Amino acid sequence: MIGKKMEKALNGQINAEYYSSYMYLSMAAYFQSIDLPGFANWMRIQVQEEEFHAHKFFDYIIERDGRAALKAIDAPPTNWKSPLEAFEETLAHEQKVTALINDLVYLARDERDNASEIFLQWFVSEQVEEEDSVNTVLGQLRLIKDSPEAMFMLDKELSLRTFTPPTAKGSA
Ligand code: FEO
Repeated sequence: MIGKKMEKALNGQINAEYYSSYMYLSMAAYFQSIDLPGFANWMRIQVQEEEFHAHKFFDYIIERDGRAALKAIDAPPTNWKSPLEAFEETLAHEQKVTALINDLVYLARDERDNASEIFLQWFVSEQVEEEDSVNTVLGQLRLIKDSPEAMFMLDKELSLRTFTPPTAKGSA
């Protein structure tokens, strides 16, 4: 059975993952509103990723005979000054999530909870991917600056992003 301290922290992470999902859905609405459907698609795939993360924590708590408890999700921002600003916020957010995951790993070690430490390793690797995929788009946005043609091309490229089924991603 999972310890109470670990259970509480993992429940907190479910909330953080749902907040991420909510924020990216809000960004999808923003991108739709400025006629960038490819960017909106990229964000909607991100929403699916975040829900998958949340469910992974949810399932793990239950598997360890704990109690998954859902809390209110804070409202995300609804507007950004530019696509660049939205992606800068996305990167900052993912870096924050990485720090949260690392804190969970340290807690698992303190609690001598080997199962949770092993479970969390998947998220450690996942955050490397998460930051990398955001950084790729951010780098392109910085190159584009104010070129509408280049923005149009990037939007087309981002419209191709699809959700990779979790099994194919090697979920543990
Ligand atoms: Fe659930 Fe984007 O990290």
